[in-house]
Formats: sequence, structure tokens, C-alpha cells
Amino acid sequence: MGKGKGFGKVILFNEHIVVYGVPSVVSGIEQATTAIVEQSKGKGWSLDDCRPATPGYKEDKFEQQKDSIVRVLKAAGINPARKPIKITFGGNLVAASGIGASAASCVALARALSDEFHLGFADDRINEIAYEGERAYHGTPSGVDNTAATYGGLLWFVRGTPNVMERIKIKEPVEIVMGNTGIVANTSAVVAGVRERKKKYPEKYNKIFVAAKELVCDARKAIESFDLKKVGRLMDENHKQLQAIELSCKELDFLVELARGQGALGAKLTGGGCGGNVVALTPGRVLQEKVAKAIEKEGFKALRTRIGVSA
Ligand code: MEV
Repeated sequence: MGKGKGFGKVILFNEHIVVYGVPSVVSGIEQATTAIVEQSKGKGWSLDDCRPATPGYKEDKFEQQKDSIVRVLKAAGINPARKPIKITFGGNLVAASGIGASAASCVALARALSDEFHLGFADDRINEIAYEGERAYHGTPSGVDNTAATYGGLLWFVRGTPNVMERIKIKEPVEIVMGNTGIVANTSAVVAGVRERKKKYPEKYNKIFVAAKELVCDARKAIESFDLKKVGRLMDENHKQLQAIELSCKELDFLVELARGQGALGAKLTGGGCGGNVVALTPGRVLQEKVAKAIEKEGFKALRTRIGVSA
């Protein structure tokens, strides 16, 4: 039996904009997806998806998930027609939009295959294989999600040839709350929408992207000097930029306002947008609990987790 694990993730700055080579800040979170691979007597591959999930998520993503598994197997060099396998996904990461569920499962599967078939894949190879799997969900992913799911911790990520990934030093892990709108979004369609609008309104989009680049550089400095108030302010600002490129929706804006009203240092949509999750910066267990409870009181799910936990 082969086992593997992939971290969930939260994008703190510049989702979508990262697709165009602008730097982003992302963190692995404490929750993860696990995969077990067992050689079976059946035909091809079979799947038992035991992950906890937002209602509708697994059904909506099923076709993309199948495509993704085929891609991961191919990239790992495993032919299930010759070596039939059973895959079981589990773990404590709730499969939802905006939390890196697809990337976490691709990484977990790549690791479990490596374990079962003694392939000895290092992290870099796991990351490459997971990227291939992510293509089923995102079309042309930037690579930020699979990188966070592979390495965990707090990262600076820039898409390019090659991609740049640097660990960001932070004094200590910081509590955050992720608020789930319960809306399952189609990331691939949302990414395509940004591309179309960017083509249509190049000046507007380029101006925002230039500002977002400046902002994320300031954010990195603020994180490194542990100026959390500033980090929060910059997250608020980044949310405005993401709103301006039409990635928010009324449920996301509601959760962002709610979190800020309860004392979060900053809040923004996170991940693909148009549904999915928000992230609120809530240092300390007391503030984290206050914000999470307020979100739950309004009937939404809240995840209490931390950024910057060393992987
Ligand atoms: C989704 O978690 C992140 C996006 O920026 C897409 C990508 O980077 O591939 C929206």
C-alpha cells in the first residue's frame, strides 16, 4: 500500500494576476488531503473519494477529477491497464473551491504512486506531476497551487521559465479564518473570463497588474517584518483589485465585510473567486474564534487554520 499527502493552500496575494507572471504569496495550511494507492485485481483504476466536501463539489468536479487522475498516472509513468490500482482519497481538508483541493489531491496521489511503485520521486518531480493533473481543472494553471500543496509553508511564487519559488520567513505562524461561501466555482471558466476581459480592456487590466506587483512586494516586506496590521491593510487593498477585475460576488463581499467588522486585520477573496472562500487575517486564537463564530452564525462554514507553519 502506497501513501501520500498534499497540503491545502491559501493565496494571500494575487490569485489570477499570478497567471500573468506577477508575483504572488501563498501558504500551505494545516489541513491536507491523503491518498492511498493499492494494487488491485480489477481493471484499470478505481476511486473511493472519502474526502469531506462542500455539498455539490465532488459531483461538479467529477469529470475534471477523472481527467486529472489519468494525467497524473501518465505523468508518473504508471499504466493502470497493466497495473490495476485502487485509489482512496481522504484527510481533513474539506474539498471546496479556493482552498487548493484539486492540487492537494494531485500531490497526494503522485506521492502515493511513488511510494507504492518505489519510484523515488523527489518533491520537484511530485510538483511537476501534480501540475499535469491540475491542467484538468485549470486549463493553464500558473503552478501556484500545486507548488503550495507540495512544499507547504509560506511561499513567494512567480510564474516564469522556470517558475520562482522562495520560502518567506515569518516570525511565527499566524491564525487565519477561511470562510466558505458554499458556492462551487469553475476555476477554468473564471480564469478564461479574466483572459477575455484583459484582452478587451488592456489598459485597465495592465494598470491593476502593475499596482498588484507593487503591492505584493510591500506585502512580502510586511510579512518578513511581522507588521501584521500592514499585511491586513494590503489584503484589503488586494481584494479591491480583485473586485475590479470582476472576481468577487456578493457572498464573498459579505464575508469579507463581516470578518473586517469583527476585527480581522484584513480580509479578501482567495483562490479562483466567483464563489469559494475568503481569507481573514486573525492573529491569536481569541480573534480567530470571534471571526469564525460570526461567519458560522450567518450560516457559512469557517475553517480555523494557520499560515507559515513549517512543512
Ligand atoms: C486558483 O487557486 C489560482 C488561480 O490563480 C489560477 C492559477 O494560478 O492557476 C486562480
